[in-house]
Amino acid sequence: MARGSYHGAMAMTQVPTRETLLDSLRAVIDPELRKDIVTLEMVRSLDVHANGVVDVTVSLTTPGCPIRDHFQTAVDEAIRGVGGIAGVNISFDVLSDAEKQALGRKLGRPSLPEGALAQVRNVICVGSGKGGVGKSSVTANLAAALVAEGKLVGVLDADVWGYSQPRMLGLGAQRPKVNGERKLVPLRAADGIKVMSIGFFVEQDAAVVWRGPMLHKALQQFLEDVDWGELDYLLIDLPPGTGDVSMTLAQLLPHAKFVVVTTPQPVAQKVARRSAEMATKLNLEVAGVIENMAGFVTPAGERFPIFGEGGGELLANELEVPLLAKVPLTMPLREASDAGVPIVASNPDDPASQALRQAARGLVALSPVELPVMQAATPPAAPKPVGMSLPMA
Ligand SMILES: Nc1ncnc2c1ncn2[C@@H]1O[C@H](COP(=O)(O)OP(=O)(O)O)[C@@H](O)[C@H]1O
Ligand SMILES: [Mg+2]
Repeated sequence: MARGSYHGAMAMTQVPTRETLLDSLRAVIDPELRKDIVTLEMVRSLDVHANGVVDVTVSLTTPGCPIRDHFQTAVDEAIRGVGGIAGVNISFDVLSDAEKQALGRKLGRPSLPEGALAQVRNVICVGSGKGGVGKSSVTANLAAALVAEGKLVGVLDADVWGYSQPRMLGLGAQRPKVNGERKLVPLRAADGIKVMSIGFFVEQDAAVVWRGPMLHKALQQFLEDVDWGELDYLLIDLPPGTGDVSMTLAQLLPHAKFVVVTTPQPVAQKVARRSAEMATKLNLEVAGVIENMAGFVTPAGERFPIFGEGGGELLANELEVPLLAKVPLTMPLREASDAGVPIVASNPDDPASQALRQAARGLVALSPVELPVMQAATPPAAPKPVGMSLPMA
């Protein structure tokens, strides 16, 4: 029989030290970061009580961390493995943004220098699973619509392969200048939107082969070395898919939100869902869904659901986020894009313009006006179209 059961008092004096226990936690590896939680400084607290009970708090990178169970088991095993333990209480909390950034630096992952984008209040990435669903059109028009709401807006064209903002915002062959602080000055579209795009730097229609590190560097530069100044919204037009660019942006901009553009087809919605899943995995909040290319309405008012129906709503419900708008297919939208003036500005009465204005108001309604902590306890609202009744700022 074990000695401990006869000599309870003695067992108590043999409770392992905090250092020993902490050391044992080096066996607990974060499967994503591939380092142990002690090195990663994710052990928030570790208290050993005289009765042999150990309290451990582990800080996760995200509240809904799917690897939580893994940690629960691994920490328990590691601590008990030391011996002389009467019980283990494991709790979890979440790393603060500052701690996440510090962790990023520790892992050699880039983060923006302090102060870059300091005057940018909201960053919104516009993404979708695939190309051709109207991300760029939506981005350009959302920008114009946010301007119409009285906001200061910038657009970063992060689609380095298929940049289209220079064309859509009517900024053909200009090149940005460098200011006294050696920062690139974004070009200004007609209604004051600040725009930066790789398209300003490459020969027209030249194919640019961007590879990982170079791409990363270019994006970093567009965030760090561009004089964005004060902005209420920086909209980022993402390339199709869920690849490198989103990953880089998520690392550089942990506060960014994601708007998913989809067409009404259930198939498109599945693809779009993948990009939303990606956003969640990268710890970016999905702010809402915009369904584009919703029914075509003839001038006589007849409606044709060319790309089907309901994909946007389905996706919004599934993600439990608002469906910000259903933007119909309209010929003026395409014409306006090609002419370099967003339709929201050139033809505000077009049904597409109205839908896009609605989406912009929804975004404004969702943007953080720092709420008192009390509000945090409210359960997430059911998905709903938003932004219809916002008082104008
Ligand atoms: N609601 C719409 N009505 C009419 N044409 C549209 C609409 N949305 C996008 N388009 C057109 O479809 C094409 C692809 O849109 P684009 O914004 O470039 O998509 P993406 O950026 O997702 O590849 C463009 O020619 C654009 O003008
Ligand atoms: Mg595009």
